[in-house]
Amino acid sequence: MSRLIVFCLFALAFAPVAHASDQAGLGAKLYAKHCRECHGPTARESEVGDIGGLSLGTVTSAVRAGPGMMPTFALTSEEIAAITAYLARLSRS
Ligand code: HEC
Repeated sequence: MSRLIVFCLFALAFAPVAHASDQAGLGAKLYAKHCRECHGPTARESEVGDIGGLSLGTVTSAVRAGPGMMPTFALTSEEIAAITAYLARLSRS
């Protein structure tokens, strides 16, 4: 729950600076660079399963902890939020 509040505060703070679609655009670039190799172009049909539309908390812990065969990444909270926004967009399309 507190993560959700932090995310909402972040989203409010970030909103005047960059439009939500710009955030997903940054996420698309980061995803292509760091994640697509394993999670595939759609994030849904990879061998490691569907990661489309997961929460910020789940994506953050995966990036920081590196579950199973996944490496960890030195990404900022803003970058992880951008990837999460991109994953949410993928899961809707
Ligand atoms: C070297 C391959 C590899 C790369 C690169 C990679 N992952 Fe993963 N990822 C995995 C594997 C394997 C799993 C499944 C781990 C398990 O549960 O055993 C996984 C699982 C996940 C999960 C699911 C965690 C859960 O609790 O359901 C998320 C979210 C995720 N990855 C996000 C990312 C993001 C974001 C990036 C890019 C910053 C990324 N991954 C890059 C291999 C990778």
